[in-house]
Amino acid sequence: MEEQSLTIDQILEWYLCAGVDETCGEKPFAAPPVVDSVPVPVIGLSVRQATSGLAQAVNTACQSAREICSKINTLEELRTAVENFEGCALKMTAAHTVFGDGNPQAKVLFIGEAPGADEDRIGVPFVGRSGHLLDKMMAAVGLSRKDVYICNILPWRPPGNRTPLDSEVAVCLPFLKRQIDLVDPDYIFILGASAANSVLNTAETISKMRGKWFEYQKTNGKKAFVLASFHPAYLLRTPGQKAKAWSDLLRLRQRLNDENG
Ligand code: URA
Repeated sequence: MEEQSLTIDQILEWYLCAGVDETCGEKPFAAPPVVDSVPVPVIGLSVRQATSGLAQAVNTACQSAREICSKINTLEELRTAVENFEGCALKMTAAHTVFGDGNPQAKVLFIGEAPGADEDRIGVPFVGRSGHLLDKMMAAVGLSRKDVYICNILPWRPPGNRTPLDSEVAVCLPFLKRQIDLVDPDYIFILGASAANSVLNTAETISKMRGKWFEYQKTNGKKAFVLASFHPAYLLRTPGQKAKAWSDLLRLRQRLNDENG
């Protein structure tokens, strides 16, 4: 078959469709990205063919993530598996895999969205401005990183801190679910809409979800009680909403107190 070359506009459109919206190096990709041995086609295909190739690659990557997770029994094994996983293109632009922090035996799990620039540089979740606010919020209800475990729905930073794509969340979700199983928390406190939508499998707004208890079904048959609230980055931009986040944290504190009798 004769190879047909694309115009620069078409190539850029293809990259945009694939979620690449920022350049972060001197060199372009030397070859099309490969997702679990399935090369994502670039040259000689229409944008529509390329996106259907991408959808297929995403399915393959999701399946591969699920298979990997089914064989994993410890958090450290999971960390290594995530670090070695090649099925999410975000890894190509990230400096570090940001897996989790805090106490793996904690009763409370905090889940955020994705690493930002500081987290990507250091390799630990919530260490930048949002993280400092989160530490203060937790301290205000008597919690610290010794009492809780913290992770994100994505272990790699989306370029320019853009909102994660559905495909990226779908590929990484099996890892998050396994992480939840292995930490086995009684309570999950979710930070922000995109994490809440992914964990609770809903499209509801955070304003509607916050302040209410939900349940999350773990694969061990047990449930975790879930609260969702505003993301600290949003609170930094919108300090007028801090009172609501405070009341959500108090709700969690109350439940922990009740449990301790
Ligand atoms: N925002 C997040 O959602 N997670 C981090 O780790 C940092 C900022």
